[in-house]
Amino acid sequence: MGVLQNDKIYASLKSIGAYAPLKVLNNFDLEQMVETTDEWIQKRTGIQERRIANEDELTSDLGVKASLLAIERAGIDAKEIDAVICATLTPDYLCMPATACIIASKLGIKDVMAFDVSAACSGFIYVMYIAKSLIESGLHKNILIVGAEKLSGVVDYNDRGTCILFGDGGGAAIISATTEKKEAILDIQISADGDYAHLLMTPRSRVTHSNDEKTLEYLQMAGNEVFKIAVKTLTNDVIEILEKNGIQSSQIDHFIPHQANYRIIEAVREKLNFPVEKTVLTVQKYGNTSAASIPMAMNEAYEAGKIKNGDLILFDTFGGGFTWGSALVYFGGK
Ligand code: COA
Repeated sequence: MGVLQNDKIYASLKSIGAYAPLKVLNNFDLEQMVETTDEWIQKRTGIQERRIANEDELTSDLGVKASLLAIERAGIDAKEIDAVICATLTPDYLCMPATACIIASKLGIKDVMAFDVSAACSGFIYVMYIAKSLIESGLHKNILIVGAEKLSGVVDYNDRGTCILFGDGGGAAIISATTEKKEAILDIQISADGDYAHLLMTPRSRVTHSNDEKTLEYLQMAGNEVFKIAVKTLTNDVIEILEKNGIQSSQIDHFIPHQANYRIIEAVREKLNFPVEKTVLTVQKYGNTSAASIPMAMNEAYEAGKIKNGDLILFDTFGGGFTWGSALVYFGGK
C-alpha cells in the first residue's frame, strides 16, 4: 500500500457487502399469525415484508455471505485481514464462542483477533468506531467488520407490537489503512444510556437469573416510548456531528439512517432537511435488522450504483441499551 513513515494514517471504508435470507415474510402472512393488517403495519412503520433465515442458517452464516462480498469488493485476500469484529444481539452461542470467531473460521481467517460487540441496532457504527481506532493507531491494516442478526430467533410471533418490525440479515465491510484523507472515515461519535435499558430487551441471561420465573423468553419493547426517544436522539446526534465537523447537510451525498420505522426516518429527515433522493430507505423490504440494518441499506444503494468513490455518507443509528451513534464517511471503495 506504500504508507510512508511520516504520512498520517486514516481508516477507510473500502467496501460493503450484504446478504438477505431468501424466505420472505410479508404483512399478509402476519395477518394470519396475529391480529393486524397490512394497512396498519404500512401506515405505522412503512414495512411491507422482511426476510427470515432458515432454521439451520445461523447469524454467522448470514455474516459470512455478506463478508465474502465485502472481501471481494475490497480487492484483498482474506489472509490480509488482521481482525474480525462482529456486531450482533443474536449470536450463534450465548457469549462463547464469539460469532466473530465462527465467521473468521468459516472464512479461513486464522491467528487474528476476533470478537463480538453487543450494542444492539447501533452495533455496526460501534464496530466501525473500534476498527477506525485500531487502524489509526497503526496496529491494524485491514479489518473485517460485520453486523448480522437472526432476530426471528428472539421475536415472539404472538406479539403484534414487535413481530411486525424485525427481520434477519447480514452486512459487512472492510476498513483499511490509507493516507488519502478524501477516502477516510472523517468522524464517528457513539454513546449510550443504560437508564433506558428496560424499554428494549432480549431474554435475560440464565447465568444471573437462573431461578427467576420472570426470565424473559422473547424480545420485549415499549414501542411508543422507544419511538419518541429515537426521533429526538437521532436528530440531535446528526446536528452535533455536522456542527462539530463544520459540514452543512447540503454537503451530504447519502443519508443512511438505521432502518427501524419509516416514520422515524421521515421525522429525522424532515427536521434535518435532507432530500428524499439522498436518503437510503430499505425498511419496506427488510424491516428492522438491527446491527445488519445500516450495512444492508448501504449495500442496496451501492448495488444500485448510487455510491461512488469519495461520496460523503452520513450514518445515524439508535438501539437497545439505549445506544446511539453517527458517522461521517468518505467512501473509499470503487
Ligand atoms: N396491528 C394492529 N394494531 C396494533 C399493532 C399491530 N401490529 N401493534 C399495536 N397495535 C395497537 C396497540 O395495541 C394499540 O391499541 P390500543 O390503542 O387499543 O391500545 C394501538 O395499536 C396503538 O399502539 P402504539 O404502540 O401506541 O402504536 P404506535 O403508533 O406507537 O406504533 C410501533 C407501534 C411499534 C410500530 C411504534 O411504536 C414503533 O415503531 N416504535 C419504535 C420501535 C423501534 O424502532 N424499535 C427499535 C428501535 S432500534
